[in-house]
Amino acid sequence: ERIPVLCIDGPTASGKGTVAAKVAQRLGYHFLDSGAMYRITALAATRAGLAIDAAHEERIAALARQLPVRFRAGRILLAGEDVSEAIRTEEAGMNASRVSALPAVRAALVALQLGFRGLPGLVADGRDMGTVIFPSAPLKVYLTASAACRAERRYKQLISKGISANIDDLRADLEARDARDSSRPVAPLRPAQDALLLDSSALTIEQAVSQVLQWWQERQ
Ligand code: C5P
Repeated sequence: ERIPVLCIDGPTASGKGTVAAKVAQRLGYHFLDSGAMYRITALAATRAGLAIDAAHEERIAALARQLPVRFRAGRILLAGEDVSEAIRTEEAGMNASRVSALPAVRAALVALQLGFRGLPGLVADGRDMGTVIFPSAPLKVYLTASAACRAERRYKQLISKGISANIDDLRADLEARDARDSSRPVAPLRPAQDALLLDSSALTIEQAVSQVLQWWQERQ
């Protein structure tokens, strides 16, 4: 209980993942990418031939409870196979959002998420880290950016990987995902009451990282 947790929640493509990973690295803390767990669960379900809908909730939750997943040296292994890239596609993100709306699946992943808490501390990235998983965390950051800005970042990311993309489609996709994540009854996307809001639209990654580290130091 004395192990400090720094939560960074926010909408899709707000830069959370990159900022959270860098903050963890600077502090020498463990890093939890909770979105990856939903992405992996969705991939495992699809591969098991299960459509992602409420009719399969229990079977997908059963998969999530014994996910053969390992996080090693920045890579993600599912049953020994490196799925680090496979889970990052737009389709995988949309499937993750669908799977994450199933309450039994969320419940199944809680223990896995709590298991990342270890000394000297943890940086947790997601949608409900501050509201549900680590409600007593000393610092909760809600990282946002305008939809236009997020679509542009995602676009540049894809183009730099040689993947063709359409910026309007990307924006429509991320707005659809945010709408689903914000409107679900269980653990919806929203800032914790005691979260500090950080709009990264006009910030570089480095500036966002510095702000979070400054808030963290102020709490020590
Ligand atoms: O952050 P990332 O884009 O990898 O998350 C993929 C999806 O997983 C999100 O759109 C959201 O639906 C879900 N998610 C969640 N709770 C979390 C992290 C992610 O519901 N803590």
